[in-house]
Amino acid sequence: MSTTRVEALFPVADRVSHYNYAIRNIVAEARPLEAAGRRIRYLNVGDPVAFGFQPPAHMVAAVEQALRDGHHGYGPSVGIASAREAVARELSTRGFPTSPERVVVSAGTSEAIDLALSALVNAGDEVLVPMPTYSLYTAVLSRLDVHARFYRTDEANGWMPDLDHLRSLITPATRVLVVIDPNNPTGAIYTPAIRRRLLELAIEHHLVVLADEVYGDLGYDGPVPPIGSLMPDAPVISCSSLSKGYLAPGWRTGWLAISRHHQLDPVLAAIQKLADGRLCSTLPMQYAVAAALNGDRSHQASFRTALRARAELTARRLNAIDGITCVPPAAAFYAMPRVALPPGRTDADYVLGLLRATGVLTVYGSGFGTNPADGFLRIVFLAQPAELDEVCDAIAGFTRDYLNR
Ligand SMILES: Cc1ncc(COP(=O)(O)O)c(C=O)c1O
Repeated sequence: MSTTRVEALFPVADRVSHYNYAIRNIVAEARPLEAAGRRIRYLNVGDPVAFGFQPPAHMVAAVEQALRDGHHGYGPSVGIASAREAVARELSTRGFPTSPERVVVSAGTSEAIDLALSALVNAGDEVLVPMPTYSLYTAVLSRLDVHARFYRTDEANGWMPDLDHLRSLITPATRVLVVIDPNNPTGAIYTPAIRRRLLELAIEHHLVVLADEVYGDLGYDGPVPPIGSLMPDAPVISCSSLSKGYLAPGWRTGWLAISRHHQLDPVLAAIQKLADGRLCSTLPMQYAVAAALNGDRSHQASFRTALRARAELTARRLNAIDGITCVPPAAAFYAMPRVALPPGRTDADYVLGLLRATGVLTVYGSGFGTNPADGFLRIVFLAQPAELDEVCDAIAGFTRDYLNR
């Protein structure tokens, strides 16, 4: 039986073809080079542990203790009480009043986003998503048969959302406004005025704000307040996790918290119902949530200092290369430079050329939804500064050749 025949017999669902997770897909391009003996510098995935960062010891101790205490069974589908209490206290202390009953513990921010969107939208509804975007949104919305409407964030304005464009996309079918702040892939932190306008627009048009705040602890000037703290009565669902600020992405442990807006009570009930269906998130790791949020956080101050130094180095070195511009990031560990591509070239052509010539693996901007001709790419700058210097040397040499070809 031919391969084509097998594919026809067992067709893959259309929704899969609507989405690409470029951050991981691009690794397939690097593997053959690595097998042939090339050194590959994987600057594609935002995983601090891959670059030597580790979660604080008291978080590891809490998980060890949970394992020793025999917490191997299913837990409550909404999460254990200590984790929900810690999340509610954390957010309330930071100005976003919520309560443990309005918190659901999840398998990372990813599952929190999935649960919230699944509870909020019907097939054919519309969701406003920032462009460039984090690929998960395209994947989840495609699975739900929901239209993602991409609102521009403007490189020329420090990657702030273009509010006029956003407003022009709102229709009677719009249900949710996704806000990723601090942002992946741009590293931007939105100004309080923009954050307030986003909330006002949501209130005016009866939208729920799905606030992806997974980088909230990683502003270089200190933690960024949750957007819900600006208007505690706005309809906001805040999502975050232990993945970034607590350096444990492999633990797949996060949460969502719903604002006190009483009109969101049915949404909370729907999320809890969906959470029942997947039983619970990994139980031993949930014991680290209270340890993380109530315990010593000095690791975050040193992580932020390390990130600021790497961000400054990366932006300075990239901006010194003829043909490249880069908005300096204000948070997290990503930079989104732009290469002035010659006509007819694409961002993927540049990124694959860079990989083959230098072993530096980045992600083309079109993997986050930007126009391939615009020449964006995303670089993860978690490597040691000396290695980042080498990477920037390699990018400078390659770009000179590429643009003069
Ligand atoms: C903006 C954004 N949201 C969500 C996630 C997923 O995070 P988690 O590991 O908590 O599921 C990431 C991971 O990179 C991200 O960048």
